[in-house]
Amino acid sequence: MPLLELKGVDAFYGNIQALRGVSITVEKGEIVTLLGSNGAGKTTTLRTIAGVMRPRKGTVTFDGKDLAPVPADQIVRLGIAHSPEGRRIFPRLTVRENLELGAYARQGADLRHDFERVFTLFPRLRERIGQRAGTLSGGEQQMLAIARALMAHPSVLLLDEPSMGLAPVLVELVFQTIKDINDQGTTVLLVEQNALMALSIADRGYVLQTGRVVLADTAEALARNEMVRKAYLGES
Ligand SMILES: Nc1ncnc2c1ncn2[C@@H]1O[C@H](COP(=O)(O)OP(=O)(O)OP(=O)(O)O)[C@@H](O)[C@H]1O
Ligand SMILES: [Mg+2]
Repeated sequence: MPLLELKGVDAFYGNIQALRGVSITVEKGEIVTLLGSNGAGKTTTLRTIAGVMRPRKGTVTFDGKDLAPVPADQIVRLGIAHSPEGRRIFPRLTVRENLELGAYARQGADLRHDFERVFTLFPRLRERIGQRAGTLSGGEQQMLAIARALMAHPSVLLLDEPSMGLAPVLVELVFQTIKDINDQGTTVLLVEQNALMALSIADRGYVLQTGRVVLADTAEALARNEMVRKAYLGES
């Protein structure tokens, strides 16, 4: 049984259909990437898994459990953490407070170990712990968004464009960190515009086009695929 499975999912914003029969599986321990151009439905797919949006048709199951009746905050408790597009951190709260909010579903838990883990992954955040998040650089805010999602102890981490707007050296760091997080046992579903980097760390991937899955394969095969190379790896 896959850890996470979408079957025939249709999703809408009002009358606009964003997903059309999307079927995706993620196995425990994998890094799976969703590729696709602007408006393809990548963010909507993650939002539908996180329960921020609900499918009009089709199902989302986690560990065999249908998520349809499960409220979004309970979905976090089940082990699915979502680091949304555009670094939705709380700018007026400190780095520490943002991280504590990431662990809100684990009330009473001893968070020392979790702080240590995210500070080992992102030493920069340790130096900034008392600083208001809104004063961090863009790259630091992106790290904080990932770190905050990790504080929920997820078994699956949904990452939406973690490298967006980052300088190349930070992009490397973020992708290496995603790999480390995965090596430590967290399953990852990764949405990226940076297809080359995403495919370099992923096990498998899906290509979305106007709300449909048009390709599904191993990361290696996708990186060699002519359509992928032309559309997403900038080859002519
Ligand atoms: N809040 C919204 N209201 C109406 N339509 C929306 C909304 N958000 C997204 N859409 C539409 O749904 C479709 C899928 O959008 P989505 O954000 O999932 O794409 P995406 O693949 O994440 O794109 P990007 O790479 O630009 O982030 C698009 O046609 C988009 O215009
Ligand atoms: Mg998006």
